[in-house]
Amino acid sequence: MAPMEGITRYIYRNAQHTHFGGVDTYFTPFLSPSQHHRFTVRERRDVLPEHNRDMHIVPQLLTNRAEDFIWAARELRQLGYEEINLNLGCPSGTVAAKYKGAGFLAKKEELQHFLDEVFMALDLKISLKTRIGVERPEEFYDLMEIYNRFPLSELIIHPRVRTDFYRNTPNLEIFKDAVRLCKSPVCYNGDLFTSSDYREFVQEFPSVDRLMLGRGLIANPGLAREMLGGPSVDADHLFRMHQDVYMGYRSEIPEANNVLFKMKELWAYMAYLFEDCRKYVKRIRKARSFTEYEDAVRELFSSCRIMEGAGFAGREMPA
Ligand SMILES: Cc1cc2nc3c(=O)[nH]c(=O)nc-3n(C[C@H](O)[C@H](O)[C@H](O)COP(=O)(O)O)c2cc1C
Repeated sequence: MAPMEGITRYIYRNAQHTHFGGVDTYFTPFLSPSQHHRFTVRERRDVLPEHNRDMHIVPQLLTNRAEDFIWAARELRQLGYEEINLNLGCPSGTVAAKYKGAGFLAKKEELQHFLDEVFMALDLKISLKTRIGVERPEEFYDLMEIYNRFPLSELIIHPRVRTDFYRNTPNLEIFKDAVRLCKSPVCYNGDLFTSSDYREFVQEFPSVDRLMLGRGLIANPGLAREMLGGPSVDADHLFRMHQDVYMGYRSEIPEANNVLFKMKELWAYMAYLFEDCRKYVKRIRKARSFTEYEDAVRELFSSCRIMEGAGFAGREMPA
């Protein structure tokens, strides 16, 4: 499961794991270790072992300061984590302006020094999640040279450049070269939204045995299991997973509006699964109270069918 800030924190991960599974590793959304060497309450809560039982979790860090990465990695190791992931993909303007996330890819020398320091100081497994460049796909070849100097436990590649954000399509030509050139295990990430996308991908890249799923898995939480040959998503389990996430948020988040906001964000993805759901999703979006929200969700589940083979389509909401 891809890290998705605002979505895939522990309540969501647990619910997905309980009702669908099929995922062997869950990456946390990024934690941003500050120079004061403290995690926020929310960050700490997300990585507490008692919130992450029976799942293999890899915490992700977003920073360009080796000292802060090393501090955070040691804290996380004390909590029992054996692998830490570095975010080199976040395209957000505010993040990239500070040369973090995909912005760090613009500072190749600093990036290499950062990795030198981190690998020297830590004997943990370290993986990277990277875009292929800031503006041009060809930037990837220099990055690959840097990455190949280090014993990465895994290189997760989302083959877009920072300025693509989520536009355009993943650059599979560059990814092909990455598979050929990379000395570490490669994991592919990007636009795998249905089992048929998965079949096409494995046909083209039979040697790649690690896939990371983001938006497709949020739209269809049963997607990983289905890709592995298991049953496809059904309304009963989806409703039960929904209830776990909803009740989990209600018990953790004090303001009703914030709970509703987070649930509506999920529906921007899950709406892709249901046939003719426009009217019902609109009601969900308009809900101003828990009662209105619950009625709207119940109505959607009782009126709309889950479509076989449906999935996230990379566009704005269908409804
Ligand atoms: C709302 C949202 C939040 C995200 N948060 C993170 C994050 O915290 N860390 C990260 O490395 N990538 C983050 N991503 C990127 C995803 O992990 C993933 O790389 C991207 O969605 C492409 O994969 P997909 O096509 O399977 O969705 C985020 C993406 C979205 C849409």
